Amino acid sequence: MAAKRYHVTTFGCQMNEHDSERMKGMLESLGYAEAGDPADADLILFNTCSIREKADERFIAHLNQAKALKAKDPERLIGVGGCWAQSVKEEVFRQFPFVDVAFGPGQVHKLAEFLTSDSLTAQGYFEFEGFTGHLPARRERRYQAWMQISVGCNCRCSYCIVPSTRGREVSRPPAELVEEARGLVADGVREVTLLGQNVNAYGRDLRPERASFSQLLYALAEIDGLDRIRYTSPHPKDMREDVIRAHAELDAVMPHIHLPLQSGSTRILKAMRRTYSRERYMDRVALIREHVPDVALTTDIIVGFPGETEADFQETLEVVEEVGYDGAFTFIFSPRRGTEAAELPDDVPHEEKVERMQRLVEVVQRRAHERAQRFVGRTMDVLVEGPSRNDPDRLRGRTGHNKVVNFSGLAQPGQIVPVEITGATSQTLTGEMSLLSALATS
Ligand code: SAH
Ligand code: SF4
Ligand code: F3S
Repeated sequence: MAAKRYHVTTFGCQMNEHDSERMKGMLESLGYAEAGDPADADLILFNTCSIREKADERFIAHLNQAKALKAKDPERLIGVGGCWAQSVKEEVFRQFPFVDVAFGPGQVHKLAEFLTSDSLTAQGYFEFEGFTGHLPARRERRYQAWMQISVGCNCRCSYCIVPSTRGREVSRPPAELVEEARGLVADGVREVTLLGQNVNAYGRDLRPERASFSQLLYALAEIDGLDRIRYTSPHPKDMREDVIRAHAELDAVMPHIHLPLQSGSTRILKAMRRTYSRERYMDRVALIREHVPDVALTTDIIVGFPGETEADFQETLEVVEEVGYDGAFTFIFSPRRGTEAAELPDDVPHEEKVERMQRLVEVVQRRAHERAQRFVGRTMDVLVEGPSRNDPDRLRGRTGHNKVVNFSGLAQPGQIVPVEITGATSQTLTGEMSLLSALATS
């Protein structure tokens, strides 16, 4: 009998990408093989996100396609995991009776139990029970890996659904993570990205011995062959000097920090329950730049939070202007079920939010473009990812600052090569690999 086949569609953030790699690893250890197309799969899985309304809508469209496939072949199984599943729980079976199995981010491992049992009835698993990081992984790239250092979030940002979909914060012990990283390096990994909802709160919950995020960075940086360490997302309130020093002192910790701002108005930050003010945020930025002057800073910003006035929005524009981010993700506020902000009176018309968003993006891009010019003329280490997306004769890779570079040269994915930067837009850099010096690199 041919092996059963699975297909996974992933929505949402890097944590979901990580979780999907673990789902694939687990399924392959059960003897399943990956199907390139859901139409060829015996098991159609969705790893869902619920962060904004649009995320929900995209997923529902996909789920309806799966329904049609199941109508043709009723033996097919449909599974729904991730944050949307967690946020609706058993409701999923009432809304979508063709779904066979549903599970939240804390019980991904139960999928294996379901698939190997004789149960014919639909099952839901929504406890916060374990780390997906403990499951086997099928990595997308041989030389890059995600590492789940913690799950959950103890913050209560008033707009955010994540604390209810991922539960309370729980960290994995540092010794376990160092061992996992060593194993990854032995398997060809050169770059890891540490994942958590609030990575720099890492370790405070551990007993008997607490750990800190900076200790973890120092421990990982000792591992020979681990060339690049990244992490996302830190919270500005927990961005302390020890973490910033780790950037300055450890070559392996990359010069990029994603520091979500959300709003530049202290009044709105308070309503968002972010627990920092505009001044405190700017003070963090100043401390980072003092220790790591060349650092790349990126951010997340929400436009049109309930009650945001033009004056509040102007403060956001001022901060973006002042900081000069290397890039930013910008979102229009989306009310989420069960969150505090969804209940707040919202008197800003949608057109005005869209207009604010356009003005914001303009400033973000102008500043990112200006900032990127500092790279032109420099030779930078680039981790090669493969062919360039719009020109297959060129290569694509990333600098330590996490900038995408399209460049001419000869190299294999996974190599780190020197590239002279010849041009820069707000989004990407262009360059040429210096062939002579490349001979001397790995
Ligand atoms: N834990 C991370 C990521 C949270 S989700 C962090 O705290 O940084 C990623 C981004 O989505 C957030 O930073 C925020 O900018 C945005 N976001 C979250 N909830 C939102 C909502 N209800 N409406 C619009 N944007 C939202
Ligand atoms: Fe959501 Fe705030 Fe936690 Fe980030 S820190 S996941 S925005 S509650
Ligand atoms: Fe979405 Fe959950 Fe990530 S809501 S953004 S998949 S933590």
